[in-house]
Amino acid sequence: MRQGSFSTLALKIALDFAKKDGIETQLLDLQKTPLPMFYSEENDTKEINLVKEQVKWADSFILATPDYHGSMSGSMKNFLDYFWSDFAGKLFGYICASHEKGLTVMDQMRTAVRQCYGWSMPYGVSINGENDFENGMVKNAQIQARLTMLSRDLSVYGKLIRNQFLQDIENNISDTFSYRYKK
Ligand SMILES: Cc1cc2nc3c(=O)[nH]c(=O)nc-3n(C[C@H](O)[C@H](O)[C@H](O)COP(=O)(O)O)c2cc1C
Repeated sequence: MRQGSFSTLALKIALDFAKKDGIETQLLDLQKTPLPMFYSEENDTKEINLVKEQVKWADSFILATPDYHGSMSGSMKNFLDYFWSDFAGKLFGYICASHEKGLTVMDQMRTAVRQCYGWSMPYGVSINGENDFENGMVKNAQIQARLTMLSRDLSVYGKLIRNQFLQDIENNISDTFSYRYKK
């Protein structure tokens, strides 16, 4: 949510790499598209409906968050609480801005995604603010390489997983994850 957020900057860079590979991308910036606090009752605002469409459209996701006390930001958790039902059979990658690598943060996002029947990349990208970025650009070559790798892997594996999930639903094969999920 912060102006000048490093996690948002890293996300934009990863999405730019994907675009260069011909992947269609959309950026959901929760500062520009704020979601009200989730309550379990039905709730619809212009923003919720817009984000719902974006989430349904996406085949895979990169979740980018700061490390807040070893966990994800409240706005990220709020986003996950709203849209969990459209995560099944989709692949998620993770970026965390932290001074301590943010491993527990990424683990907690992975746990939430798993509970929603989403798949997770086996690695994440941890960035450390001013150490890795300068004037809106990556200055750490290793971070640049990891963001490129994340964006490439997510688009390749995301497509494979999504296509198989949809194919299994269409073929109605009873001993598949997608069939059981649909039931
Ligand atoms: C409420 C709050 C809690 C934070 N907790 C931690 C923490 O536990 N560990 C850590 O390394 N950084 C912590 N930070 C620092 C942020 O993770 C760090 O500044 C990060 O770069 C912010 O990401 P952003 O630039 O995307 O906003 C905290 C910052 C805030 C505002």
